[in-house]
Order: sequence, then structure tokens, then C-alpha cells
Amino acid sequence: MGALLEADAICVTFGGLRAVDGVSFTVNAGEIIGLIGPNGAGKTTIFNALVGLQPLTSGFVRLGGERVSGLKPHRVAQKGMTKTFQNAALFPDMSVVENVTTAALLRHDLHGARTKAEAVLEKLGLNGIAQADVADLTFPQKALVEMARALATEPRVLLLDEVMAALTHSEMDEVMEVIRGLRAEGLSFLVVEHHMRAIMALCDKLLAVNFGRLLAHGTPAEVAANPQVIEAYLGHGAVGKEAAHA
Ligand SMILES: Nc1ncnc2c1ncn2[C@@H]1O[C@H](COP(=O)(O)OP(=O)(O)OP(=O)(O)O)[C@@H](O)[C@H]1O
Ligand SMILES: [Mg+2]
Repeated sequence: MGALLEADAICVTFGGLRAVDGVSFTVNAGEIIGLIGPNGAGKTTIFNALVGLQPLTSGFVRLGGERVSGLKPHRVAQKGMTKTFQNAALFPDMSVVENVTTAALLRHDLHGARTKAEAVLEKLGLNGIAQADVADLTFPQKALVEMARALATEPRVLLLDEVMAALTHSEMDEVMEVIRGLRAEGLSFLVVEHHMRAIMALCDKLLAVNFGRLLAHGTPAEVAANPQVIEAYLGHGAVGKEAAHA
């Protein structure tokens, strides 16, 4: 059987800048794959290209063997792939449950969307804050609500862009437990995080990028020990140093 998600030589250029330069990888059902690289490496642009927010200059994206590159983001979401935003993009004037309901409208009428939103909040242990204003949420609550919005679209592959930024270690552990629980149900994840501790603990495999190119791929230990990856991180807080403690 083919991979669930396939990126095939994807390229994105901005003027003269090759932000994503011929990146290929696959994600299988139930895998958690980490995408790492220094600031500006192209991680968010890869995510945007996968979900249809950023047109490809060349290459293909396939989901379940079907080509999704060229489709609009809501069509890609209907096919089963969506992403969270690097800086949580919740609607500030809506309650938590309303925020999640708007996402669930992808597949449901208003009544069905509300029911779906409540079910997702329950699953993530967030029913206690369903009526809260998003402005009043803590960082870990915001991260989970952002994930709840994405889950409400009923994805097969979920792309998480730095949802654990600003979390303490114990808060990260809580979010990672939620991700592992969802994976146990068959959901696949691509995860961008700068916290190497979280990446090493969570991911089955890593993809390392720099200057829009794939530098290395393999198990977390293999990638963290790769000389090119260590070189890319020198002066950036060092993957190698943290990996030594993982
Ligand atoms: N819309 C855009 N127009 C022009 N250049 C862009 C645009 N978006 C990103 N870039 C550039 O593309 C490159 C990759 O950026 P991207 O945001 O994908 O990096 P990143 O790996 O997500 O970085 P970070 O870890 O800081 O979030 C950078 O050089 C960035 O300045
Ligand atoms: Mg980014």
C-alpha cells in the first residue's frame, strides 16, 4: 500500500528565493514525523504548500494516492489534511466552542458542527472551558484549542506548527499525551517544534531541512547525530547538545 501523504520534489520560490527546494518525503498512517530546521529553513512554507495555502512552483502532493496540490485549502481539508497556525489564529471575539464550531462547518451544518465541536472539546478534556473567551486562555489551553479547531475538520493528517511554543515542560508533556492518544486512533502528524526535547520524545522519524532543502531523514537519534544537521544548528541552540540528554 502507498503512503498516506506523499510530497514529491516540492518547490516554492518567492521572487529569487527558493524557500522550498525539491523536498520529497512520505508519511504513513499513524506516524508522527517531526520537521526540524533553523529559523527561516522553510518549515512553515512546506506546511503551507502541503495544505494549499501556498502554490507550488513545481512538484506534487498526494494524499491517499490522490493529487491534492493545486487544490484550495478547504478542498485539501475536505480530503483530510489541515494545519494549525504558528501563532494561534483563534477568533478573539468568540468563545472556545464557537471557535471550534466554525472549523467543524467544513463537514457539518451549524447544528452538526456545534455537536462535533462539543465532542472534540470533550475528547481533549476542554469541556470545562467551552464557554470561555479565548482571550482568557492560558498558553497550553490555547494550544489545545488550536488543535481542537484542526481536529474538528476530521483530518487524516494533521500538521502542527509550533503548537508547543511557550509551554513549560509539564505542559508540553500534557499536549504530547493528547497527540499520542490521537495517533493511537490512527491519525498521522507532521510536527514542527523548536523544542528538541519534545521532538525527540514524540516523533517516530525526523526530517531536517535547511535553506529549503532536506538535509537528513531517519530516526530522531540518527538525524540528531547527523553532522550536517549539527552544523546547521551551530549557534542556534544545538540539536546535538540536547540530543545527548534525550
Ligand atoms: N510570503 C513570503 N514571501 C516572501 N518570502 C517568504 C514568505 N514566507 C516565507 N518567506 C521566506 O521563506 C523562507 C522560509 O520561511 P519559513 O517561514 O518557511 O521558515 P520556517 O522554517 O518556518 O522558520 P521559523 O522557524 O522561523 O518559523 C525565509 O527566508 C522567509 O523569509
Ligand atoms: Mg515557521
